[in-house]
Amino acid sequence: MSGESKEEVKRRLEGLFHVKSLEEQINRNLRDVKYKIGVISGKGGVGKSTVTANIAVALALKGYKVAIFDSDFHGPSIPKMLGVMDRQIELTPDKKIIPVEGPLGIKVISIAYFLPDSTEAVIWRGPLKKKFFDDLAMYTQWGELDYLLFDLPPGTGDEALNLAQSIRDVTGLLAVTQPTEVSALAVAKSINFATKVNIKVLGIIENMSYFVCGDGKKYKIFHGDGGEYLSRQFNIPLLGKVPIDPRVAEYGDSGYSLLIKDPESEFSKVFFEIVDRLSELI
Ligand SMILES: Nc1ncnc2c1ncn2[C@@H]1O[C@H](COP(=O)(O)OP(=O)(O)OP(=O)(O)O)[C@@H](O)[C@H]1O
Ligand SMILES: [Mg+2]
Repeated sequence: MSGESKEEVKRRLEGLFHVKSLEEQINRNLRDVKYKIGVISGKGGVGKSTVTANIAVALALKGYKVAIFDSDFHGPSIPKMLGVMDRQIELTPDKKIIPVEGPLGIKVISIAYFLPDSTEAVIWRGPLKKKFFDDLAMYTQWGELDYLLFDLPPGTGDEALNLAQSIRDVTGLLAVTQPTEVSALAVAKSINFATKVNIKVLGIIENMSYFVCGDGKKYKIFHGDGGEYLSRQFNIPLLGKVPIDPRVAEYGDSGYSLLIKDPESEFSKVFFEIVDRLSELI
């Protein structure tokens, strides 16, 4: 026995054969990305993709270079929400994937660009998803970025695990919840997942917290204080409470962000505050 650790053997073999491990190649390709942030939630439909898209827009409006890696292989939403559904992926002469450029120069990569049409179902088991995730991470020309956001599907399954296993130095996660206990309970699982895979949860975002009526009064639509509960329970800052605004869904379907259409809206102001808090935290 040489007494070498596994890591030392790996490094020696890499040196001998001039091969880089998969992880090494992925992370070399991400070397010019400052912050890598995943958006998670134990619960479906709470607004992860809406939050990801609007955080990207808020950051881009503040002058940051941003990209989104839409890591929801079964239900990709980012290209639709940012109005870049119909774009075609192009390759560089050395066969790197050029991400699609969305509003404000936001770069987008998504499985949606690799499917024959927008209703095609992806029926893949874990290993295939991992391979595709790794390939997109490794062969996309991300370039120099301030923020790379990963939009994840609900839960703590393959996709969240791929992020944790393949991407080195993840800056942290943002956990999205609705106010209800049902949502907060599911999101608590995502926070525990993060602890298990050694990734910090930077903050909690409560979505659909209230509705501002025409009379200017705030009305709570969903019962509960899920965001505050999770913040207290896990000692993680609550970065913002996002209101319900019917225009969000309407514009989201048409590929626009309310932050661009109506930057003075309550919804937009909350997002500008969220990204200010986020950049203070990291
Ligand atoms: N604050 C809000 N006000 C109004 N509509 C919203 C708000 N947040 C999200 N929505 C709408 O709710 C729907 C679900 O949101 P979204 O797709 O972002 O959720 P998700 O958590 O990403 O879902 P999934 O679990 O399927 O990935 C979308 O149609 C979106 O436009
Ligand atoms: Mg989504």
